[in-house]
Amino acid sequence: MKLSQADFKQRRDLLAQHIGSNSIAIIATRAEMYRNRDADYKYRADSSFYYLTGFAEPEAVAVIETFAEGEEYSYSLFCRERNREMEIWNGYRAGIDGAIEIYDADEAYAIDLLDEEIIDKLLNKKRFYYRIGQNAEFDARVSQWIQKADAQQRRGGAPAEMIQLDRIIDEMRLKKSAQEIELMQIASNISAEAHTRAMQSVKPEMMEYALEAELNYIFGKNGCVPAYNSIVGGGENACILHYVENNKPLKDGDLVLIDAACEYEFYASDITRTFPVNGKFSPEQKALYNIVLDAQLAAIDATRIGNHYKYPHEVAVKILTQGLVDLGLLSGNVDELVESEAFRQFFMHGTGHWLGMDVHDVGAYKHGEDWRAYEAGMVVTVEPGLYVAPDDETVDAKWRGIGIRIEDDVLVTENGPLVLTKNVVKTVEEIEQLMAN
Ligand code: GLY
Ligand code: MN
Ligand code: MN
Repeated sequence: MKLSQADFKQRRDLLAQHIGSNSIAIIATRAEMYRNRDADYKYRADSSFYYLTGFAEPEAVAVIETFAEGEEYSYSLFCRERNREMEIWNGYRAGIDGAIEIYDADEAYAIDLLDEEIIDKLLNKKRFYYRIGQNAEFDARVSQWIQKADAQQRRGGAPAEMIQLDRIIDEMRLKKSAQEIELMQIASNISAEAHTRAMQSVKPEMMEYALEAELNYIFGKNGCVPAYNSIVGGGENACILHYVENNKPLKDGDLVLIDAACEYEFYASDITRTFPVNGKFSPEQKALYNIVLDAQLAAIDATRIGNHYKYPHEVAVKILTQGLVDLGLLSGNVDELVESEAFRQFFMHGTGHWLGMDVHDVGAYKHGEDWRAYEAGMVVTVEPGLYVAPDDETVDAKWRGIGIRIEDDVLVTENGPLVLTKNVVKTVEEIEQLMAN
């Protein structure tokens, strides 16, 4: 499934409505990134730019202009011109004709003409919407345009008001359409398949990167790329939250934590599973695992319309703390331990974040001072964990070096939470059974 040009147009229509009459919005894609001598990172367009245009080439800028009330808005796309030699070396370009014919632009220009053409577009507009702070070089160019336009007072000068465009686009992106949910479901299914394969392939003494390769095989075979750097951490490496070296052997008797998921058609998924390298949880691993699982299931259930963003975290923290007290890793009154955040010794991150085109997706978490409430169409991760540092002498040695996280992607719906990533097992029994086969 792919989004159609009509889907992208619908988003531009909505943006044009948001910015009101006699306004202009400018949005640039991101720059190509250099890796090392003559080698770039594979290009990935800016999410918000792609969200509005469906245009995945680098060096492109979209401009939405509105005019008098009731008049049609205009969409211009500045992009690279076609160039036979460059296309032989680096691949196909849509060019100016393609921008109009394929990407539905009303006007299209060579990107080299941007500094020249943009001034006329800025003149006589009331408001200027721009994503300030994304790229210092581009910000400096924009400031020159404003100065140039302002010097032309007789032609209306520069817009008097400048507004952060991200506020509007982020809010649009936060609530997913039916098509976006379909893409996220596909990404989730492929990622779930990858985790299932990892559980079926792992063996003691396998290297963490070799297990990562099993995931990448499923991602690549389905036309996907990892949505973020995969974490494959055996044993105490699971206690390093952003462990991405993935270069140690997996040990018999250890758990392995995998936080890895793919991006499909610009939409991300985000899954973590933790399972035993030899297929069987030890009693200590199982005890801690089941606390995390209970916390995760309760937090998922709390991800409902009207509950505030932090509520699932509060639910998770209470269960984790109770569990840590029951097992003797913490001692004291559970409410007081929650209040003093004693759990942070073992659970030092949040329980979730927005998910969408970006793995840590856009969208405000607060309205003013208050956490915002969940609404239908939002997608959030639910990812509690427990990590006992290998050198934590406050706990019995048998717990040390165990790190566990369980993460799923949850769509908020009128009928309650819907787990997009349900295709990969997560109870102790299900995991052991899958790994036994
Ligand atoms: N994989 C990134 C995260 O879980 O936030
Ligand atoms: Mn996450
Ligand atoms: Mn994750």
